[in-house]
Amino acid sequence: RLDRIPHPSRRVPLIGDVVGANVRTPIQDSMRIAAELGPIFRRKGFGKEIVFVWGAGLAAELADESRFAKHVGLGVANLRPLAGDGLFTAYNHEPNWQLAHDVLAPGFSRDAMAGYHPLMLDVAGQLMSAWDASEAAGRSVDVPVDMTKLTLETIARTGFGYDFGSFERDFDQEGPHPFISAMVGALSFAQRRNVVPPLLSVLLRGAERRNAADRAYLNRTVDEVIAARRAAGDGPGDLLDRMLEVAHPETGERLTPENIRRQVITFLVAGHETTSGALSFALHYLAQHPDVLAKARDEVDRVWGDVDVPAYEQVAKLRYLRRVLDESLRLWPTAPAFAREAVTDTTLGGVHPMRRGAWALVLTTMLHRDPAAWGENPEVFDPERFAPQAVRARPGHVFKPFGTGARACIGRQFALHEATLVLGLLLRRYDLAPEPGYRLRIAERLTLMPQDLRLHLTRR
Ligand code: HEM
Repeated sequence: RLDRIPHPSRRVPLIGDVVGANVRTPIQDSMRIAAELGPIFRRKGFGKEIVFVWGAGLAAELADESRFAKHVGLGVANLRPLAGDGLFTAYNHEPNWQLAHDVLAPGFSRDAMAGYHPLMLDVAGQLMSAWDASEAAGRSVDVPVDMTKLTLETIARTGFGYDFGSFERDFDQEGPHPFISAMVGALSFAQRRNVVPPLLSVLLRGAERRNAADRAYLNRTVDEVIAARRAAGDGPGDLLDRMLEVAHPETGERLTPENIRRQVITFLVAGHETTSGALSFALHYLAQHPDVLAKARDEVDRVWGDVDVPAYEQVAKLRYLRRVLDESLRLWPTAPAFAREAVTDTTLGGVHPMRRGAWALVLTTMLHRDPAAWGENPEVFDPERFAPQAVRARPGHVFKPFGTGARACIGRQFALHEATLVLGLLLRRYDLAPEPGYRLRIAERLTLMPQDLRLHLTRR
């Protein structure tokens, strides 16, 4: 029953709410409509009608795991041809979800993280060598490009012992690593699939061909990663070792080779793209807010002292820097939405009946701006929103950059450790200045990324 849910008033017969819609910016379009229509609304495009929810109270209901669960739909479902029943794209009922979750969860324990720390430092060292060279040559740096190199190398080396050589490539001459081009192609295609109706899919034929080529490239890369490990014999006990060697502690079952392929591609993509965006947004806000930057840097200097290479335990102690990261993820949660479906017949907000299986999309970018949770000036960047007393004063389930419930992000601690470590290292080494006149624009490819963000560096 949708009749109590508002929709844009200029609805075109057959086509739907396409006035003002742009296939490149579905999230930003939805944010504008959300601001007009309120905490729950629907948008129709070419026969598909999607219910969006962003009000804090309604989103908290959708987080109730006794009534709702993850829904694999839209962008996530469009990634199934690539990621199959890998962790991110698996349907709740697929047995490989629980199996892979149980086998891989210890790969994200505290001990496992401490084991990844030296490799993370190593990759950050590569980034800083590249930035030193740019600084010496008086060149500004392309933040999303470099953060993507960093996070791809980090997940590839920590998870799979694989080196893409991203920092050895000359971006201006050679462009991004072909793995990145193929991945961005696959993500953009999955996003476009949401907006182009099946009847018009002939329009996508050229794009389909490119997409098939992208998928083939990604699969070949994954097979190389796995073959390299098999050739090397014993690995260091990383994610790939777990996939290849570890049986389920209770059932003794193992992941199949096909499922391992799906998991590797899942982790290579989910494990870097959103973290790269999160780091990029945080660097943007730090460069735009010298007072915040100074405070964060004081903390790094205080907590790390004279140590240039921080120990694992010294990263989580950067409490203020974590707030900066959280506040960046509040304004631009780089995975900007997630879908929830009713597990029984239920009524949302006491007025919207939902049958079992009916679903809604939580628009995280707007949930993170709901004045009911965040006050009257939600657009203002203010890390103090994440000071402990401020967090305690807020209702629950209003900050969801990592999704919710059983299907929330398995890599959360990994991402937070990596991002805090890298921000700490960068603040310690450089002063950051924005390009004069830069105004934040957001590029969408299922995930969010600041567009054309460059920073000027000065060695401290
Ligand atoms: C799931 C966000 C980093 C691996 C998710 C979900 C969100 C998310 C919102 C839930 C999606 C849904 O409900 O449909 C993020 C953000 C990150 C990040 C914002 C960085 C800032 C990572 C990293 C890894 C990772 C570093 C791996 C090393 C996964 C996987 C899932 C997932 C495997 C699926 C979990 C499952 O369903 O069991 N992530 N993620 N993510 N993420 Fe992340």
